[in-house]
Amino acid sequence: MNLDAPVASLRGVAKTYATDGGPVHALRGVDLDIRRGEHTAIVGGSGSGKTTLLSLLGCLDRPSAGSVAIHGVVTSQLDDEALASLRNEGIGFVFQQFHLIRSASVAQNVELPLYYRGVARAERRRRAAAALDAVGLGDLAQRFPQQLSGGQQQRVAIARAIVGDPHLLLADEPTGNLDAENAALCLRMLMADAAGDRTLVVVTHDLDLARRCRRVVTLRAGECVDDRVD
Ligand SMILES: Nc1ncnc2c1ncn2[C@@H]1O[C@H](COP(=O)(O)OP(=O)(O)OP(=O)(O)O)[C@@H](O)[C@H]1O
Ligand SMILES: [Mg+2]
Repeated sequence: MNLDAPVASLRGVAKTYATDGGPVHALRGVDLDIRRGEHTAIVGGSGSGKTTLLSLLGCLDRPSAGSVAIHGVVTSQLDDEALASLRNEGIGFVFQQFHLIRSASVAQNVELPLYYRGVARAERRRRAAAALDAVGLGDLAQRFPQQLSGGQQQRVAIARAIVGDPHLLLADEPTGNLDAENAALCLRMLMADAAGDRTLVVVTHDLDLARRCRRVVTLRAGECVDDRVD
């Protein structure tokens, strides 16, 4: 891993999904560098390839053509295990649907990325408590996700995403399932966390959120059609 290389570097990236109705070209030749500390919003219509792009950046998937490098490491050259470890060591995710584990407490949900990394229990507890404090939920650590409001659940998901101190924080419509008040609160938490030199890439239809990112990349039909920095 080369920490001087861009956090993520995409060259000629294409992603084609095979379906019963034939191939779907979700991305068609995207070039994109994400530099350290940068806050980028990815915008574009439904089906334009935003989630696909985020899952390639997040090492959840590999491109069909072209290359994705994370800190200079080309993901298509890694086996599944190495890809999972790159993801787990350096990348945090926040999804629209929260994706919390119902049978685990709030604290256990937040500890999970550290558990996968083999961090010892006492250290996991300490760091999960700090992450929950950072999103204002220190008092709810022993509850279960379904005992929380949607906004609180998303804040738990944010705590889980940042607990491992990732180089890269990825969020896919993080405010999409929240009312205006909770969306604003989660936005504040995300941006407060990213205020240091955390690199943030967020897919959003939320103009408030997009406006707070210095860089806005627009996708249309799998191509990057605009890329502007304020
Ligand atoms: N697993 C899959 N299998 C087949 N086609 C897929 C798959 N995932 C996405 N697609 C297709 O790829 C294209 C891009 O999808 P993607 O989910 O990246 O769009 P999006 O910009 O995130 O849209 P939305 O704003 O609706 O979430 C769409 O045509 C979609 O139907
Ligand atoms: Mg999507």
